[in-house]
Formats: sequence, C-alpha cells, structure tokens
Amino acid sequence: MNKITNMVAVIVLILSAPVLAEKTATKGDAVKGEEIAAGVCAGCHNADGNSVIPVNPSLAGQHAEYITKQLIEFKMEGDTPAVRNSPIMSAMVTALSVEDMRDLAAFYAQQKPTSGIGTETNEEVLRQGEIIYRGGNIENGVPACASCHLPDGSGIPPHYPQLAGQHAAYTLAQLNAFNDGIRDNDKGIMLKVISRMSAQEKRAVSEFISSLK
Ligand code: HEC
Ligand code: HEC
Repeated sequence: MNKITNMVAVIVLILSAPVLAEKTATKGDAVKGEEIAAGVCAGCHNADGNSVIPVNPSLAGQHAEYITKQLIEFKMEGDTPAVRNSPIMSAMVTALSVEDMRDLAAFYAQQKPTSGIGTETNEEVLRQGEIIYRGGNIENGVPACASCHLPDGSGIPPHYPQLAGQHAAYTLAQLNAFNDGIRDNDKGIMLKVISRMSAQEKRAVSEFISSLK
C-alpha cells in the first residue's frame, strides 16, 4: 500500500467520525477513573493497567482518545451489535457512561507502561519482526508499522494507538481478528496493512512489539 492510499484512508477515518471525535477529545477525570478501574477493571488489566495475563491487553500509557473510542465501540446499543466485537468487554461497559469511559481513559493514559510479555527467545525471529515493524516487506507489499505507530511504538494520538510493550499474545490475536474481519472498527485500515502478511510474519512482529519499550 502506498503513502497516498494511507493518507486517504486516514482522512476518511477523520471525516466520517466527527461525533465520535468530539466524544473522545474531551478530557476525563483520572481520579474518578481510578475508582472505577479499581472496582471493575483491575482483575483483568491490573491496578495500574499493566496486565499480567498475556491475552488481556495492557492499557498503561495508552492514548486516552484511543481508549475512550474502544470503550464506546465495545458497547451494544439495544440489539445492534457492538462496533468492536468482544463479549467480555461488551459486558464490562454496559453500565458505563461516556463520561465514565473518558475518566477511565484519563487514568490509564497517565500510568507508566512496563514490558510486554512475549514467548519468543529466538533472536532471528525477533529480528524478522523488527525488520517488518521498521521497514515492512517490499516483496509482499506490507507497509512499515512504524509509519503509523512510530519507530518506538508510542503511536500518534488520537488515531494510532501505542503498541510498545503490548503482550505478544494479545497483539497476534488482534492481527488475526483484523485479518478475519472479526475486528473492523478502524475502517479497514489494518486489514489493508496485514492482508498479505504470512502467519509467521504476524507472529514475529507481535513478539518484536512486546519487546519494544
Ligand atoms: C474479565 C476480564 C476483563 C475485565 C474485568 C475488563 N477487561 Fe478490558 N479487556 C479484556 C479482554 C480479554 C480484552 C481484549 C478484547 C478483544 O479480544 O478485543 C480487553 C480489551 C480492553 C480494551 C481495548 C484495549 C486495546 O488496546 O484496544 C480496553 C480499553 C479495555 N479492555 C478497558 C477495560 C476497562 C476500562 C475495564 C473496566 C471497566 C475492563 N477493560 C474490564 C478483559 C477484561
Ligand atoms: C496506515 C496506518 C497504519 C499502519 C501502517 C499500521 N497500523 Fe496498526 N493501526 C492503525 C490504526 C488506525 C489502528 C487503530 C484502530 C482503532 O481505532 O481501533 C491500528 C491498530 C493496531 C493494533 C490494535 C492495537 C490494540 O491495542 O488493540 C495493532 C496490534 C496494530 N495496529 C498493529 C500493527 C502492525 C503490526 C503494523 C505493521 C505490520 C501496523 N499496525 C501498521 C493504523 C496503522
């Protein structure tokens, strides 16, 4: 995919979601967010948002706008399916208002991220992941992850999430979900990025991301 296609995709993303943008841009109250987090979320995402269970994502240091967007999109409105499909998280957000979501997002965004959990120790696999992350794969047209998520994995708010320090198992599950159309709350951007990646490339890049700080 070339840069112009990327830009067009991003512009479409921005233009098509003015209401969502307004909801996610407003700042929340981290103190109130911490209270809800301690009561409801800590069991799976840990008290400071650095989850210790690889299938549960770490939230510490993630951009507030991105977190609020995800929480809004996990929520089912009546019988309409949620924009982002996760039975676990849909149940978690049922009782939350948009204000609660912003407060939670403000809290997690302030936490300091620690290292992600990976399982790969083979240097060659990690190196393969790093090459894709930083430079993509010209042969099968995979763009560099770093072009949107930045070389250090810190992402670019509001649209491009932080990936650094995320657990490999969670990242790989998301790549597969984008690939299979189970997750498509990004207007198809990630599907275009990864549709030509091999299973091995997806695994290698997920392992590398967990080692990024
Ligand atoms: C029972 C365990 C559990 C609880 C409790 C829980 N979560 Fe989650 N959370 C998950 C799992 C599993 C996922 C991954 C969902 C998927 O497969 O896409 C997730 C995903 C998320 C995401 C998306 C992260 C990303 O990087 O896209 C956010 C944000 C989130 N949770 C916030 C919360 C908040 C806030 C609460 C409390 C109100 C909470 N969670 C409670 C298990 C849990
Ligand atoms: C053209 C820009 C772009 C490129 C290039 C890109 N991404 Fe993304 N990525 C996005 C956007 C936008 C989202 C956020 C989707 C949303 O709002 O839910 C995202 C989300 C993700 C997520 C979900 C994060 C989470 O916490 O759930 C993962 C994992 C991810 N990207 C990995 C990658 C990898 C690996 C590469 C390189 C192979 C890559 N991305 C390249 C734009 C990009």
